[in-house]
Amino acid sequence: MTYSIKMTVNGKEVAGEVEGRTLLVQFLREHLRLTGTHVGCDTSQCGACAVHVNGRAVKSCSLLATHLDGCEVLTIEGLADGDKLHPMQEAFKKLHGLQCGFCTPGMVMSAVDLLKNKKNPSDTEIREWLE
Ligand code: FES
Repeated sequence: MTYSIKMTVNGKEVAGEVEGRTLLVQFLREHLRLTGTHVGCDTSQCGACAVHVNGRAVKSCSLLATHLDGCEVLTIEGLADGDKLHPMQEAFKKLHGLQCGFCTPGMVMSAVDLLKNKKNPSDTEIREWLE
């Protein structure tokens, strides 16, 4: 059985037919071809899949796409302003804030949300931000 869903992704209205078990990360990657959001684990712990839903960072591997009908989603592809990187992307680039880079999009999306909500987060708040 499939379900029709609509949402706004990176400022554009999108629609799709998905199975009930389709995760948000699968919808983004496989239906919309927004492959900047990665899957780094199968236990919902790593955060590589972080995107924003209605302005809050979430793990897109732990949400069903059908539950997000009508929501606003922001992915790493929508963070920059054209060719102008988001300040967090600039900071990661300037400070080489990556290792292999696989999880960097998720770290950037989580960091943007963290600093939007906590201007001077503690080490604990940083580690525990994306539950
Ligand atoms: Fe690891 Fe989502 S892929 S938390």
